[in-house]
Amino acid sequence: MYSGASNLVTTTDNAFFLIIGISVIFFVGILATIIWFIIRYNKSKHPVAEQIHGSNTLEIAWTIIPLILVLVMFFYGWSGYSPVRNAPKDAMRIEATARMWSWSFEYPNGIKTDTLYIPVDKPVVLDLISVDVIHSLYIPAFRIKEDMVPGRTNRMWFIGQKPGNYELFCAEYCGLSHSYMFTEVKVLEQDKYDAWLAQRSDTAATAAATADPAVAGRRLIESNGCLACHSSDGTKLVGPSFKGIYDHKQAVVTNGQTREITVNDEYIIRSIYEPDADVVEGFRKGQMVTYKNQLSEDDIKLIIEYLKTIK
Ligand code: CUA
Repeated sequence: MYSGASNLVTTTDNAFFLIIGISVIFFVGILATIIWFIIRYNKSKHPVAEQIHGSNTLEIAWTIIPLILVLVMFFYGWSGYSPVRNAPKDAMRIEATARMWSWSFEYPNGIKTDTLYIPVDKPVVLDLISVDVIHSLYIPAFRIKEDMVPGRTNRMWFIGQKPGNYELFCAEYCGLSHSYMFTEVKVLEQDKYDAWLAQRSDTAATAAATADPAVAGRRLIESNGCLACHSSDGTKLVGPSFKGIYDHKQAVVTNGQTREITVNDEYIIRSIYEPDADVVEGFRKGQMVTYKNQLSEDDIKLIIEYLKTIK
């Protein structure tokens, strides 16, 4: 019955192409009429203007025809909009969190990822949470976009109908690195999805069981989207790379003065809680928000254990 990457594609495209079609017909029709009138009613051929005042036929026609057209547009618009608003009750819930400038997705069993994984042919509801400014979650292939407003949980839902990878990005300018808020939705066959979920749960359980702090630290870095701005292979992104950072002598700018520090636990905690306090030389202020509400000092200790492992 439906075609397209999501269940919302057909109805959205119908409304869109209908309105585009009507607009094109009017554009061409009006332009042709203008040109025809310029020639037909040129002053040299037609020195005295004719009067059409009081033509009932014309007045009824230009009232009824547009009325029918807008009602047809409304019908198609409504049949596209109404399913967008009404999610099925049994839909799977995933919490989508946006922050400057990364995404994280939390699944019902507590797993977090920075890419969205969903099973094919299953309705999915996203609870949309922003922890700082207004973002907007947009999946063009699914024909769905919704603002993420701090202090308010908006929702969106869809059914991924074709396995594959689709772009997901922020569609609301949210600051300097807005363009970094770019990731993917991966629509998987049910068995592949179950296997992925089991494997992720296993890794999480293993990390907890072995209590390897470096593995737990790496997980925190992934689930908080740190890697959008900090590479782990030495590449310079918005922020300094994590590679070899621990115990490294580093020039930083504090209150406009350049000084040298050693990257130790204290420096890392301050950098995560007050990113603008000591900015690494060569990077700009105002690029990162505080993670005070997201990461506890214990979390940061785990992250530090991870940082020590990437030399
Ligand atoms: Cu978030 Cu733009």
